[in-house]
Amino acid sequence: MRIDIAGTSLLVAIAVTNIASANTGAERIEAIAHERCEACHGQGGQGNNAMFPKLSGQNANYLVQQMFNFKSGARRSSVMEPQLADLSGDDIVQLARYFSIRALKPIPANDAPLATQGRHIYMQGNPASGVAACYVCHGPTARGGHMLPRLAGQHADYLELQLRRFIERSRTTDQTLMHSVATKMTDQEIRAVSHFLSGLD
Ligand code: HEC
Ligand code: HEC
Repeated sequence: MRIDIAGTSLLVAIAVTNIASANTGAERIEAIAHERCEACHGQGGQGNNAMFPKLSGQNANYLVQQMFNFKSGARRSSVMEPQLADLSGDDIVQLARYFSIRALKPIPANDAPLATQGRHIYMQGNPASGVAACYVCHGPTARGGHMLPRLAGQHADYLELQLRRFIERSRTTDQTLMHSVATKMTDQEIRAVSHFLSGLD
C-alpha cells in the first residue's frame, strides 16, 4: 500500500514536470487554449455554442483588458474568474493574441427585416429616444478597435445579454458609457441590432 502511494505521487510529479518543461512559450499557450479555453469558446475561439462569446478576430487589447477585469473582479463572472486565476499577465497577453489573429466566421442573418431595422439603429441610433449611433464608437464595419470590442459576427444571444447587463449595471467596466446608450433602447431595438451584428463579417 505504502509503495503504491509513493509510486503514484512519483508518477504525478514526473507528469507535471514534463508539462512544465515541454510547454514553453507558444506551446504552453496553445496547450492552455486547447485544453481549457476552447472547451467553452470553441476551436480557435470560433464560439460554436451561443452561450459563450466568440474570441476569434476580437481586438487583442480589448481581450487583455477584459481578462484583467475578470481577474480583478471589476467584471464579475463566476465562470471566467477561476479560468484565469493561475495565469500570469504574460499568459493573458499571449492568449489574447492567439485568439485575435484567428478569422471569425459569422452566421448570416436569417431574418432580413429584423437585420434591416438593426442596421438602421447601428448607423443612425434612435434620435427620438436619444439612442446614440453605435458606429460612432464601434466603427462603420463594427470591428471596433483598441479597447473597443468588435461586435461584427458575435453571437446575437451574447450581445443581447451584455446589453442587458449594461442596462442593469451588472457590467460597469466601461465607466457607464454603454449604460447610457443601452438604457434608452427598447427590447425590440436590442434584438434587432444584435441580430444584424451577428451576421456581419
Ligand atoms: C467553462 C466555460 C469557459 C471557459 C473554460 C473559458 N471561458 Fe471565457 N467566457 C465564458 C463565459 C460564460 C463568458 C461570458 C462572461 C459573462 O459576461 O458573463 C466568457 C467571456 C470571456 C471573455 C470576454 C469576451 C468579450 O467579448 O467581452 C474573454 C476574453 C474570455 N472569456 C477568454 C477566455 C480564455 C482566454 C479562456 C481560457 C484561459 C477562457 N475564456 C475559458 C466561459 C468560459
Ligand atoms: C460612446 C461610445 C459607444 C457607443 C456610442 C456604443 N458603444 Fe458599445 N461599447 C463601448 C465601449 C467602450 C465598450 C467596452 C466596454 C468594456 O470595456 O467593458 C462597449 C461594449 C459593447 C458591448 C459588449 C461587447 C462584448 O464583447 O462583450 C456591446 C454588445 C455593445 N457595446 C453594443 C453597442 C451597441 C449595440 C451600440 C449602439 C446602440 C453601442 N454599443 C454604442 C462604447 C460605445
